Amino acid sequence: MSATGYDATYAAWRRDPDGYWAGAARGITWDAPAAQVFDPSQGVYGRWFPGGRLNTCFNAVDRHVAAGRGAQPAIIWDSPMTGRVETITYADLLDRVSRVAGALAARGVGKGDRVIVYMPMVPEAAIAMLACARLGAVHSVVFGGFAAAELATRIADAKPKAIVSASCGLEPGRVVKYKPLLDAAIGLSPHKPDAVLILQRPESPCELTPGRDADLLAAMAGATPHACVSVEATDPLYILYTSGTTGAPKGILRDNGGHAVALHNSMDLVYGIGPGDVFWAASDVGWVVGHSYIVYAPLLAGCTTVVFEGKPVGTPDAGTFWRVCEQHGVKVLFTAPTAIRAIKKEDPEGAFLKRHDLSKLEALYLAGERCDPDTITWSERLLQKPVVDHWWQTETGWTITGNFRGPGLFPTKPGAGGKPAPGYDVVVLDEANQEVPRGQIGSLAIRLPLPPSCLPTLFNADQRFRDAYLSAHPGFYSTADAGMVDEEGYVSVMSRTDDIINVAGHRLSTGAMEEVLAAHPDIAECAVVGVRDTLKGQVPLGLVVLKSGVSRGEADIAKELVAMVRDRIGPVAAFKDARVVGRLPKTRSGKILRATLRKIADGEQYVVPPTIDDPMILDEVGEVLKGAMR
Ligand code: COA
Ligand code: AMP
Repeated sequence: MSATGYDATYAAWRRDPDGYWAGAARGITWDAPAAQVFDPSQGVYGRWFPGGRLNTCFNAVDRHVAAGRGAQPAIIWDSPMTGRVETITYADLLDRVSRVAGALAARGVGKGDRVIVYMPMVPEAAIAMLACARLGAVHSVVFGGFAAAELATRIADAKPKAIVSASCGLEPGRVVKYKPLLDAAIGLSPHKPDAVLILQRPESPCELTPGRDADLLAAMAGATPHACVSVEATDPLYILYTSGTTGAPKGILRDNGGHAVALHNSMDLVYGIGPGDVFWAASDVGWVVGHSYIVYAPLLAGCTTVVFEGKPVGTPDAGTFWRVCEQHGVKVLFTAPTAIRAIKKEDPEGAFLKRHDLSKLEALYLAGERCDPDTITWSERLLQKPVVDHWWQTETGWTITGNFRGPGLFPTKPGAGGKPAPGYDVVVLDEANQEVPRGQIGSLAIRLPLPPSCLPTLFNADQRFRDAYLSAHPGFYSTADAGMVDEEGYVSVMSRTDDIINVAGHRLSTGAMEEVLAAHPDIAECAVVGVRDTLKGQVPLGLVVLKSGVSRGEADIAKELVAMVRDRIGPVAAFKDARVVGRLPKTRSGKILRATLRKIADGEQYVVPPTIDDPMILDEVGEVLKGAMR
């Protein structure tokens, strides 16, 4: 392994950023070339490839068929939940995507219109996304584990003309009926879509609402295939809502041109994957990893992508991932550390793994949460292949730091998330905006401009974008992650600096959960903190103070709170533990000491803040937090 390849590539970007990205842009088929690679005068901090015109769906689908790859599998759907495996070739994908685009166009969807996609892990989810891209419409995928109220918030903000959904999702041991959730969400939202297309799944079909709903497959069959609509590189491709520090999610905006360039480039650069290779991101289309690495990047690069409907364990066992890798010849697998921890817990010696021929698998990539060194070393030992931790955010859409198979892997350091990808100048800053010395922890920030694919702004919210990301450190994008860069340039990402927690690789807002708890009639005040968990990384714990005079049983109240969070945010919040405390630790001015609580809950060192009102309360609550760690 050599560091030279990476160093040379990174240095080439540093020397000539525009030249680097102009080179990467040659991997994309343009309808009209960009007038400029980057224009710092446009948008909030500049825009990539202004004046360029393209269609992302054309680049992900049509051009591969035109180049003679029509018979190559584009998508392999592997669903241990239903026992089905389906292969969709590029030619087949082109037909299906153009028909869904036709069906949406027939319902009035055109360039710039929003479409919400609320679907489980079925190929139709990817097809719906690509169909929107084909029309120049803007999709917003909502993860199936969110409750109706969260879906409603997204419908209200995105104001979609249409929604594409399914009759149900399948979770181990239960069928998640989507239609009641969808109807409830549309009912709650002040904005109503004109049309809804529903994939009827045989496991649990649903009644269609007359005048609004249509059967997706029937609509496809009857639709006129729609051609690609040329859009500006700076036109939006999608909005993906992600947790912010309050209950109102942030609409991360992704453009067409920069996204296509960066994601296409990343397949070779980061993963060492090329046309015809099989790539599997074991995530969900509802998250950014699913958008980027189940759908767009592998298809832009002409690979075969695996869409997996199952879990790492229990569907049917801890060997499922390895079975999928063997059966479909997966070359690179990308998943969250939690998934590996779940497998490790059930199969510590790798008995399942040893039953499979993994000769085609070349590397495992992990992201979504901080990876404990033990998970990396366990996977390396059993797989005998490189295991790469890489750092990501919904906001960036691709690797900030990692290790790079394209130019050649450099030695990894367990606990560190690698080195910056070309395009990212990562620095560690203190509160005064000064760079801290190497090896010291501070706020991880990226010098502006952000590279292509990163959010140009938030949907309809330029000021919120500036306030949330650009104001803390002028000239930089604040990642809201704390960490350090060591002497050799390796970046370690330690923890969030805000109220976001990471539960099983899912990004959740403790602020949003606090809003739900505070609505309970017996609760005077509350705090939700992420408590360390050996499987999920973190799990939320509610600390609640009851109103004076409340004498109901604490267990009953806790049960109600758990049900409220599940009902309002969704099962994915994994909120299962609420504990009554006498008081919450505060500063003398009355602010809850959330940062200190977070540190205790994460098992980190902490200092008792000098502004604390009553240190005894911190001790009491600290004991509760320590007792909740698993
Ligand atoms: N639709 C409906 N419900 C969903 C859902 C979906 N798409 N995804 C998850 N849920 C539900 C689960 O059924 C579970 O419900 P329960 O409380 O009734 O058991 C709850 O949300 C929590 O789900 P999850 O956090 O996934 O926990 P789990 O115990 O079901 O599984 C793991 C644990 C580790 C196996 C699982 O979290 C996993 O596969 N993680 C990988 C992480 C990942 O893919 N991250 C994406 C970013 S890379
Ligand atoms: P999301 O937007 O859901 O992808 O979550 C992004 C957040 O997950 C980041 O801000 C980090 O806090 C965390 N994260 C993602 N990848 C890593 C990683 N490799 N190491 C540490 N934290 C990570």
